[in-house]
Amino acid sequence: MDSNGLKPAGPSEDIPAPDARQLERAAAAIRKGSAIAVTGAGVSAESGIPTFRDPGGFWRKYPPEEYAAYSAFLRDPKKVWKMWQERAAMLEQARPNDAHTGLAALEEMRYLQAVITQNVDNLHQEAGSRRVIEYHGNARQMVCLECGRSEPLTRSRIQEIPPKCRSCGGLMKPGVVMFEEFIPEDALAESERLAMGCNSMLVAGTSAQVYPAASLPQIAKYNGATIIEINVEPTDFTHDLVDVFLQGSAGSVIRRLTEHLKAGSSG
Ligand code: OAD
Repeated sequence: MDSNGLKPAGPSEDIPAPDARQLERAAAAIRKGSAIAVTGAGVSAESGIPTFRDPGGFWRKYPPEEYAAYSAFLRDPKKVWKMWQERAAMLEQARPNDAHTGLAALEEMRYLQAVITQNVDNLHQEAGSRRVIEYHGNARQMVCLECGRSEPLTRSRIQEIPPKCRSCGGLMKPGVVMFEEFIPEDALAESERLAMGCNSMLVAGTSAQVYPAASLPQIAKYNGATIIEINVEPTDFTHDLVDVFLQGSAGSVIRRLTEHLKAGSSG
């Protein structure tokens, strides 16, 4: 637990690494090409960013109905921006980990078509992933609710809260999707199309509880894709939907998977 009462869910040492047979099953599906990844907060846990629902997670300290709902933001923007001062400090320090660099490498190797991420931390892009669909927006930006102008969200810019638009004086809002808001239309449409057409889907570090993102593995499965889940613990999807469950921290599992594919090994 850090001084903020938040605890990044880091790599779990007690969890055995997935065996070579499971890795090869996942690799075989990915070798067919047209794979996509759907990522969640667990992928950034090893970068020091707490997840939402794990013990020590963000929503334990900041109930989403008070801090992440659009109506709550309009009711008390200063309160919500205060939480963002803490989050922005954390995000500015975070660097990509092996999960992010591994997924970027899979794209470079032409196995992975795209990463659809629920994360707002920009770490996939920083790791070199080129096609990143931001399902819940990006916290490196903020947007004016009056004129729509956006600008970088930096710690120094939010020293005074709530920040006001430099061109019209309107209220600025973090560039993330809040509860009660719609998923950006482009991201929604492109993600659904990719989920319908992929041969395999890597579902990494998400509790798969938030819709519509959680429907993507279902769409892929019903369209014949192999679902590979990477998580430190089973989720609601593990038994019903998932074909290959690779238990472990996203960083170490994705690194091993990438090495396995690079080596072209069959065992
Ligand atoms: P959650 O906090 O709900 O779930 C995190 C998942 O990551 C859990 O299943 C953990 O078991 C797993 N996990 C933790 N550490 C891990 C590690 N090192 N390696 C692999 N897995 C690990 O976060 P999300 O599923 O991303 O939305 O949450 C989805 C959405 O809910 C977020 O985008 C956010 C939140 O409300 C909005 O704010 C709109």
